[in-house]
Amino acid sequence: MKEEEIRGLASRYGTPLYSYDGEIIHRQYRLLRGCLPEAFDIFYSVKCNPLAGVCGLFRQWGARIEVASLGELHIALSAGFRPRDIVFTSPGKTRAELEAALDHGIYSINVESVAEAALAGELALARGETARIAVRIHPNSGMQGAGLKMAGVPTPFGIDQTGIDEAIAAISAMPGVALIGLHVFTGSQILDADVIVRGMRDTINLALELSERHGFGLQFLDLGGGFGVPYFAGETALDTDRLREGILELWEEYGARLAGTRIGVESGRFLMAESGVFLTKALYVKECKGAKFVVCDGGSNHHAASAFLGRYVRNNFPMHVLGKEGGPAVETNVVGCLCTPTDVIGQRVGLSADVEPEDIVVVSKSGAYGLTHSPTMFLSHALPAEVLVWEGEAHLLRERGKTEDAMRGQRMPAANPAFRDDYARTV
Ligand SMILES: Cc1ncc(COP(=O)(O)O)c(C=O)c1O
Repeated sequence: MKEEEIRGLASRYGTPLYSYDGEIIHRQYRLLRGCLPEAFDIFYSVKCNPLAGVCGLFRQWGARIEVASLGELHIALSAGFRPRDIVFTSPGKTRAELEAALDHGIYSINVESVAEAALAGELALARGETARIAVRIHPNSGMQGAGLKMAGVPTPFGIDQTGIDEAIAAISAMPGVALIGLHVFTGSQILDADVIVRGMRDTINLALELSERHGFGLQFLDLGGGFGVPYFAGETALDTDRLREGILELWEEYGARLAGTRIGVESGRFLMAESGVFLTKALYVKECKGAKFVVCDGGSNHHAASAFLGRYVRNNFPMHVLGKEGGPAVETNVVGCLCTPTDVIGQRVGLSADVEPEDIVVVSKSGAYGLTHSPTMFLSHALPAEVLVWEGEAHLLRERGKTEDAMRGQRMPAANPAFRDDYARTV
């Protein structure tokens, strides 16, 4: 996006602000779509960016959707997804979530334990139905090269491959349960196409083996994904030509055996990360014990990943001062306004030496796991607005939060006389 456009968005919507470029989202979607045989469905992972306006774009382009909570299910339905295009994955689905999945008749509940399958079956049986489930397997080996490993190491995800035969035998025998397939998701942020293809091959082999051994039809096979994007210097983008060739080869080998199977891949980061910028305004520029600080109006409460508060990112996001690129840079700490030393969204980054109050700091690659992955309650600041620029127009997808939101849902304990006056003031 051009400098003037970014400046225009900041002045129209204020800061802090997330802005997403629809053209880049579309480019990434087409890039991934182009790597996959037609028979494959792309399931957009809402967790990476739960804006209904973004989900709606993916729906228009033909994507399906993967949700991980009741809230995400609500978003997916609000964005117009048909239940048959929704899968639900999460290691801790509550009774209410399973009930909602059954209410809406979503395509697959991807169960992560035998107990969860039993609960889904029990709930379905009580309404005279069967629950369509896929079993998420936690394979013995994780994806080598995954930025964030979710298999091969102890995690709460899926049913351990050691013991999967007993689990599938038990689930197959459950009344109220229809076992429609299998799911494997081993890690996120993989930049090596060969690693992804190898993982898919392992999953396909495991799935074919299990379905044959246990005599269930493989209606659905969710291959996961983990498609990564380069964030930092020295990282190389996923080679999508190689990915396409690798998956094509795989399909030539296994396509006939999987002819009646719905194949899914899931993606969040690859589709969204590159499209987003986080804009935060410099309030003060100061020095302390030889270090330079730019104190901004948005920080780690809005963009935790940029403050290394997640488990994957251990490096600075690319960032610059709007309109002051290319000049002399000095080591600067970009911080928000929280009263904690962890509120640093740029640690000793090379930033324009001329940075001054009112300047806009632009944090790139912020489209995935930005606001959604941040401790937004901390210090009760209002949420930033979020906008999408699509076909030359800016669309407000989430309005800026209000100061009053800090009191949303709060009650004073009215029964206690000590609080009576305060209570009267709040109602
Ligand atoms: C089950 C599952 N599917 C999909 C995703 C999305 O991963 P990514 O954003 O790397 O594509 C995740 C991320 O944690 C996940 O746990």
